[in-house]
Amino acid sequence: MIDLRTDTITKPTAAMRQAIAEAVVGDEQKREDPTVIALEERGAELLGHEEAVFVPTATMANQIALRVLTEPGDEAIVGGAAHILLYELGGAAVHSCLVMKSIEADDGRFTAAQLRGAVNPSGDLHMAPTRVVCVENTHNGGGGRVWPLGQVQEVTAEARTLGLATHLDGARLVNAAVAAGVPVAAYGREFDTVSLCLSKGLGCPLGALIAGSRERMAKARRLKHLFGGAMRQAGIVAAAGLYALDNHVERLADDHANARRLAEGLVEAGMPVDLEQVETNFVQLDAAVLGLGADDAVARLRAGGVLLSFATRKDVLRAVTHLDVSAEDIEEALARIPRALTGAPVVDAAGAAPTPY
Ligand SMILES: Cc1ncc(COP(=O)(O)O)c(C=O)c1O
Repeated sequence: MIDLRTDTITKPTAAMRQAIAEAVVGDEQKREDPTVIALEERGAELLGHEEAVFVPTATMANQIALRVLTEPGDEAIVGGAAHILLYELGGAAVHSCLVMKSIEADDGRFTAAQLRGAVNPSGDLHMAPTRVVCVENTHNGGGGRVWPLGQVQEVTAEARTLGLATHLDGARLVNAAVAAGVPVAAYGREFDTVSLCLSKGLGCPLGALIAGSRERMAKARRLKHLFGGAMRQAGIVAAAGLYALDNHVERLADDHANARRLAEGLVEAGMPVDLEQVETNFVQLDAAVLGLGADDAVARLRAGGVLLSFATRKDVLRAVTHLDVSAEDIEEALARIPRALTGAPVVDAAGAAPTPY
């Protein structure tokens, strides 16, 4: 089975497991774990901020950032089908009592003018004060699209003029930086807070970072504990993070090349893939053009030996390249996908719906 559902499914490599086994650890909650402290220092530098805090998940990093930057009853603005809006269980409402507004943008990237148009009038007696704008880079729902640094700078400059705080959901920020040929910190320092996931393209078993000013990170550390995220001998996993930052950053270009090869091969085979959308490690395939619903298409692919997942748009499938998929796997997937999607329909004896994730 070739598993292209998502880049979160990677398993630690033998060398990463070795780094984990050799990790020097202490009580992270008491700030006595040297490996966690080393990862936080490294993360702060990478992300272009004074301080970083190690947390278990990117969801927690995003939710802590929103809480640090806002007051209950504030409004947060996001672009398109943002992860923070759609896939964090309404956490912004639960943890920070926020109203959310989404700027229409198919690929998740919006402009400074769109931001200006979306902000509630300042001082309005009846409307929630717009307090923060969130950018997602790369944009998951948009198909792994990369924000050009110039467009980010226009949006963050507009946010500052409007008196808004800024957060970057950088779960896949390193993919964006590698694809754009821009240092990670050049993106990171544009924002008040930045999150980064270590367990996606970077290949760690778990872990994320949130970065910002010393003052904001002092609040973030308190919130991490409040949310139940203060750990103990967490150096065991922080060691994987340090290993990934040393060894798994440049290789993201291989994942991007594999995605490009997959997309081009699928187009050659007559599959409905828009090459322009392929900027990092995501390939979107519009099953509707083949007359297939997403469930049917996923079931056919599973029977044909390839796993894809659902994209945000209806009847669009997503293939994601990652550390555990080789160039040979991509060639094999190129043989299997067209065969599965254009062959006879799959009859599932149990009648069960396929599992998309
Ligand atoms: C853009 C984005 N942000 C945040 C997250 C949350 O990551 P996690 O599920 O590891 O908390 C994801 C996960 O897919 C994501 O794609």
